[in-house]
Formats: sequence, C-alpha cells, structure tokens
Amino acid sequence: MFNLVAFTLLFGAVVTAIPTNRTGVLNAPRKIGRRCTGEIQSLADVAAAEECTTIVIGGFTVPAGETFALAPPDGASVSLTGAITFGFQEWAGPLMTITGNDITFNGNGHELLGQGDLYWDGQGINGGVTKPDPMLRINMGGSFTNLKLVNSPGRAIAIGGSSLTVSSIDVDNSAGSAPNSKSGSDPAGANTDGFDVSANDVTIESSTVANQDDCLAINKGTSITFSGNTCSGGHGISVGSITSGVTVSNVQITGNTVTSSVNGLRIKTDATATDSTVSNVVYSNNKLSGITSFGVLIDQSYPSTLGTPGTGVVINTVTFSGTNTIAVGSSAKRVEVNCGSTSSCDGTWNWSGLTVTGGSAGAVKNAPVSGGSF
Ligand SMILES: *[C@@H]1O[C@H](CO)[C@@H](O)[C@H](O)[C@H]1NC(C)=O
Ligand SMILES: *[C@@H]1O[C@H](CO)[C@@H](O)[C@H](O)[C@H]1NC(C)=O
Repeated sequence: MFNLVAFTLLFGAVVTAIPTNRTGVLNAPRKIGRRCTGEIQSLADVAAAEECTTIVIGGFTVPAGETFALAPPDGASVSLTGAITFGFQEWAGPLMTITGNDITFNGNGHELLGQGDLYWDGQGINGGVTKPDPMLRINMGGSFTNLKLVNSPGRAIAIGGSSLTVSSIDVDNSAGSAPNSKSGSDPAGANTDGFDVSANDVTIESSTVANQDDCLAINKGTSITFSGNTCSGGHGISVGSITSGVTVSNVQITGNTVTSSVNGLRIKTDATATDSTVSNVVYSNNKLSGITSFGVLIDQSYPSTLGTPGTGVVINTVTFSGTNTIAVGSSAKRVEVNCGSTSSCDGTWNWSGLTVTGGSAGAVKNAPVSGGSF
C-alpha cells in the first residue's frame, strides 16, 4: 500500500483498470503517465507530450515522408485544436498512428488533410505512384471521436487493437470521384477504403464515408458493430476479402444508409483461402439505394466476381433481421450468392428481413437461404 501511494504521489498517475482484449493482452505495453498537459505543435514535441495523461495537439504540418506516431500513456485524454496537414511525398506511410490502452481521443471536429489529390492517378495502392497507406492507423482501446479525414492518398482508416468505440468520423474523399489528368476517364481516387478492421470488440458508429472503395471492410476479428453510418460513392459495406487462417465472428451491421454505390452488402472470401471462418453476420435495418452492380453479393471466388468459388472459408449463419431495404439500379443484380459447396455456406441463413427491388434477380448457389423478397 505504501509503495502504491508513494508511486502515485511521485508520478501523479491515475492507475485504472485497463481493458484487455480476449487473450488478456493489452493493445500496447502498459504505460503510466504523469498528470500534466503535453502540447504538440510539431513532431519534435511528441516524445515529451507522451509523458502526460492530457495531450493537446495544435494545428501543424507533418513533414513529408514522416509518420505522426502517437503513443499516449494508459488512460490518457488526447484532443485536437486545429487541422493537421501531411506533407506530400511518394512513400509507403502510414501518415498517422495512435497506439495505447483506454485512450480518449477527441478531434473536436478538426481535419486531417491527406492531400490525396496530389497522389491520385486512378490506380490506387497497387499501381502508379507510391501512396502513403493507410492515412490513419488506430491501434488503441478506448474511444476515438469527432474527426474529419479529407483526401486520403490510399485507404483512410485502419483499425487494429481491441475494446474501441469509433464515432462521428467523417471520411471525405468525395473529390476522388471525378477523373483527373492522370486517371483518364476513371475516378482519380481508388482503394480509398473508409474503415478497414482487423480488431476485436470494436464499434464504429455515427460516421460518414464518401469514397471510391469499401465503406467498411472487415478483414478479421470478433464482436464488430457498424451502426448508424452513412456511406456514398464507394463499393458498399463488406466483410472481407477473407484470406487464409482468419476468423471473423459476431458482426452486426445495423441502421446504416448507403447511397450511390457499386455494391450494397458484400461478403467476399478468397477462392484460394483455407482454414478461415466467417460466422454470425447480422444485418438489421439498413437502407440502401442507387446500387449499380449487386444489392447483396456473397461470393467465395474473390478476387473474381462470380467466378469459380473456393470452399476453404466457411460462412456460417448470415441473418437479415428487422427491415433491410435495398433499391438497385436497372442493370444491377438484386442478390447473388456464389458458394463453393453446401458445407462452406452453412448454419442458418434467415433472410426474412431483406427486401431488394429494381434490377434483375441473381442466383443463390449452395447456400441455405430462406425468406426475404428479392
Ligand atoms: C490482443 O492484443 C495483442 C496486442 O495487440 C495482439 O498481439 C493479439 O493478437 C490480440 N489478440 C486478439 C485475439 O486480437
Ligand atoms: C426468421 O426470422 C423471423 C424474424 O426474425 C422469424 O419470425 C422466422 O420464424 C424465422 N424463420 C425461420 C425459418 O427460422
């Protein structure tokens, strides 16, 4: 007891119970801060500010070719008081990372400016100039809220770690939907995913994404909720693509609005992947319109679309509950399910809460779908 008191007096630290992920492992090593306020006006201030349990970040420009990497102490509060601009350079990135346990991050509505318009060439992250990717990596537990990301060069936000709530984030890559001098007739922006998730116990809510690729892509993890978000211009809400040796389970996609997108709701698994499972994906009360290719697409042939499906990723139990409505365009398919076998798509597929209108019907291959109107 004496030691704890002495320790607390010496360091002024607030020692709280830090939630850990399912393996009982922290997102980052335990890090005790001092009760002080650290101010960041340039990258040179970061190390000193990271000693403090309150961190205030002013507006500044991050030099080209450098990552703004922030590792606050456990339990810290971090806030933004101005816009952060990332200097232009062709390099791999990422542009910003935040790592830690039980962090409270509030962007106060300020912007991260990725200057993607200087990189975009219609080729995304797999071609053309090297683009820093992702723009922001959130590998922390706690809450992360109220931030705008403008023009990510490649993918916008990658989420790792566990025990995290992300809310009121505005990813605005809408400028990438128009062609530029380097993209011919294609949209200038590509692979500008909104949220890529490889994490456990994560909620993403009340956020907005305007982009040219997936609004959400869940690559792995358990207990992932995506609710009350708005997506436009991109490729819709996705689980996958799923590679080998991956588990995705207990996914809730609830109350989202998707407009003007190539796909609505998708599960895509790699044709050659093995030893992976996607289980218990529940869609409730989502509203989608202006879908140009597929209203619902569940496809085990990725990266092909409706090619020869594999069987190495088991998709177990996909539910549409409540009222999900999808309006697709005249040349779109309402629903396509392309499973490699009845054992790679199993469990209960109760789709009574799904109504898709417009376009033409697709096919359901090797999956036990029941109910719904599509
Ligand atoms: C828990 O967090 C640690 C540290 O980030 C990570 O190595 C581990 O994979 C995580 N466990 C799960 C199940 O996500
Ligand atoms: C499907 O779900 C609905 C509503 O959630 C329920 O009323 C119905 O009984 C279920 N159908 C089957 C076949 O389980």
